[in-house]
Amino acid sequence: MSKSKGKILFQLTGSIACYKACNVVSKLVQEGFDVKTVCSANALKFIGKSTLEGLTHNAVYVDTFEDRSALEHIALTKWLDLAIICPATANIINKLAAGIGDDYISTVFLAFDFSKPYLVAPAMNQNMWAHPATRRSAGILAGWGVKMLGTGTGYQACGDKGAGRLLEPDAIYKEIIKHL
Ligand SMILES: Cc1cc2nc3c(=O)[nH]c(=O)nc-3n(C[C@H](O)[C@H](O)[C@H](O)COP(=O)(O)O)c2cc1C
Repeated sequence: MSKSKGKILFQLTGSIACYKACNVVSKLVQEGFDVKTVCSANALKFIGKSTLEGLTHNAVYVDTFEDRSALEHIALTKWLDLAIICPATANIINKLAAGIGDDYISTVFLAFDFSKPYLVAPAMNQNMWAHPATRRSAGILAGWGVKMLGTGTGYQACGDKGAGRLLEPDAIYKEIIKHL
């Protein structure tokens, strides 16, 4: 078996853009990265665990209290070379900036070793992206060393046009490579 190019913890939250994020996951695996995924409960309303398990050949983490090995969320922070949330909802960005740890993704974030890269790829409606809470939270996260990726501008699923679209999969892949 060939050597892994790197270990990526790929975390998805509840956005329509979850389908685009699957292309990034697939590309990472095809290029030789070892990828483990975490989904918020709401991400699973947009894509199924089977998609991510099939793409990564690894189980999907959702619930910190799941009956697997104890303290797996801590072990994951030690295992990974880079963590990314893609797509990142307005909710998770605001939640992380408030220091809340009430689900898998936010708990891993609180236990994160910031000598390693942590990327956030936002995806949301233009008003959610422009909201003062989201603007402030994005600034807080950047101040803590999180690499806040930009967003694309254009058509949004709700019919609006504006900022907040998830970057295209190739651009996200390049950001991951750049920060490894
Ligand atoms: C159809 C649909 C699409 C949504 N798309 C987004 C989105 O792209 N970005 C976002 O921030 N919230 C979006 N939401 C709202 C989030 O899913 C909602 O805030 C949820 O509580 C986020 O949970 P999570 O961050 O734990 O995944 C969407 C909701 C629905 C019903």
